Amino acid sequence: MIQATGLTYIAYILAALLFILALAGLSKQETAKMGCYSGIAGMAIALIATFTKLTAAAIGLTIFAMVIGACVGLFVARKVQMTQMPELIACLHSFVGLAAVLVGFNTFFELGVIPDAANGASNAVLMDQAGELGIHLGEIFIGVFIGAVTFTGSIIAYGKLNGTYKLRIFKSAPLVLPANHWINLGALVLCVLLMVWFLHGGVDAPAVPLVIMTIIALAFGVNLVVAIGGADMPVVISMLNSYSGWAAAASGFMLDNDLLIVTGALVGSSGAILSYIMCKAMNRSFISVIAGGFGNKPQQKKDEEMGEYHEMKTAEVAELLKNSSSVIIAPGYGMAVAQAQNAVAQLTEKLQKRGINVRFAIHPVAGRLPGHMNVLLAEAKVPYDIVFEMDEINDDFENTDTVLVIGANDTVNPAAAEDPSSPIAGMPVLEVWKARNVVVFKRSMNPGYAGVQNPLFFKDNAYMCFGDAKKSVEEIDALL
Ligand code: TAP
Repeated sequence: MIQATGLTYIAYILAALLFILALAGLSKQETAKMGCYSGIAGMAIALIATFTKLTAAAIGLTIFAMVIGACVGLFVARKVQMTQMPELIACLHSFVGLAAVLVGFNTFFELGVIPDAANGASNAVLMDQAGELGIHLGEIFIGVFIGAVTFTGSIIAYGKLNGTYKLRIFKSAPLVLPANHWINLGALVLCVLLMVWFLHGGVDAPAVPLVIMTIIALAFGVNLVVAIGGADMPVVISMLNSYSGWAAAASGFMLDNDLLIVTGALVGSSGAILSYIMCKAMNRSFISVIAGGFGNKPQQKKDEEMGEYHEMKTAEVAELLKNSSSVIIAPGYGMAVAQAQNAVAQLTEKLQKRGINVRFAIHPVAGRLPGHMNVLLAEAKVPYDIVFEMDEINDDFENTDTVLVIGANDTVNPAAAEDPSSPIAGMPVLEVWKARNVVVFKRSMNPGYAGVQNPLFFKDNAYMCFGDAKKSVEEIDALL
């Protein structure tokens, strides 16, 4: 247990302020770098302040663990592709959950087994005398519960996003047990009863209810996330982000570390706000997302039933662009896969030189993590003032000559607006089909992440430009 005093308190407050500045900075592209630096400075101060409270042996052990962690982290960070970021985040959340479980059990064992040197009484007896034992046991129980749910939930989310594991629980489609909601509710009620048993034990709090609850919570985490379909995964990731924050805050309570409580609360609440924003963007209620089962039986039509699609070669796309005075580019996950952002930025510049008004339309869940497209466009140095959020630009499509859909699919699917039986019905989408011409860059007629067919491809004003997006855009650029 690390107790803060004097200077350490001041350092913790400074670090907490820097973390708040980091969050504020990260909310805008222009200030994102400053936000990162604030976060790094805050973490450095927090680490130094914590070290000053540790014994030499503990510092040695901590540095040893940090070196191992840093090596693994560096290796993974250098290897991971931008498109794999969400699964990496899910993986990191699972570590936070596991850490909370381990901290919880360690704190529990410390209560009973480490007697106070001066009077020989166990920590539990001393806390009981101070009237703090009940609260401390509650913190342990709740912390372990949140940690265990976060741990297994994040592992399932990782598997689902990774998409290479053959196990059914890692498939994108939801796996819903019969009477699933009742099973979840039963598990929660059982955990509450176990908590009563645990707290009732007082100074002799038994380990059995804690262990049983941990097993239930681990299974609960699996069941909660396997029931959630592919289209809802972004919300799940930010929800797990929030859980991992609360798990860290719970660890802060157990370790009596104020900074960990503040940091955990910041992560927990920002994750919750992000989940809410994303639910709103997808027109889904948060409860229905976490209750799961969405997209269970998509009503799929065969390609032939959808009608005919028209193909357009890159030379024809170049001609179409030459004759356009306004162009909107709607990027999606495929732009990230093709790493086409620099080619797209170059094409944008060329079109602008021809006097064409070029803008970008960003859907809130385009790509595989919030802000994915904004990061790619910023990396390619596309000016921020031509990049618009969905709400800012959706009404402008009908007055636009040509829309280039670069590797986007679900986020431009008219079925969301037109077909109430579609699994993505009601999700706000970029209304690209309202433009005079739409060119869709993709490699095949395959559906997008949600596995839902896209009637856009069969509209009279839509043209498919097949091939790798980067290659196609470069060809068009050369032709212009
Ligand atoms: P998607 O619906 O996933 O569609 C991406 C399209 O890109 C695919 O249809 C694919 O078609 C095409 N593509 C892939 N590689 C390509 C390449 N090299 N060149 C050209 N095209 C390529 O993408 P979206 O419209 O961005 O929608 C995002 C989806 O991901 C949503 O369903 C969303 O819910 C989900 N999701 C989002 C997040 C966040 S927070 N943003 C996180 C997880 C999941 P081909 O295979 O035919 O080329």
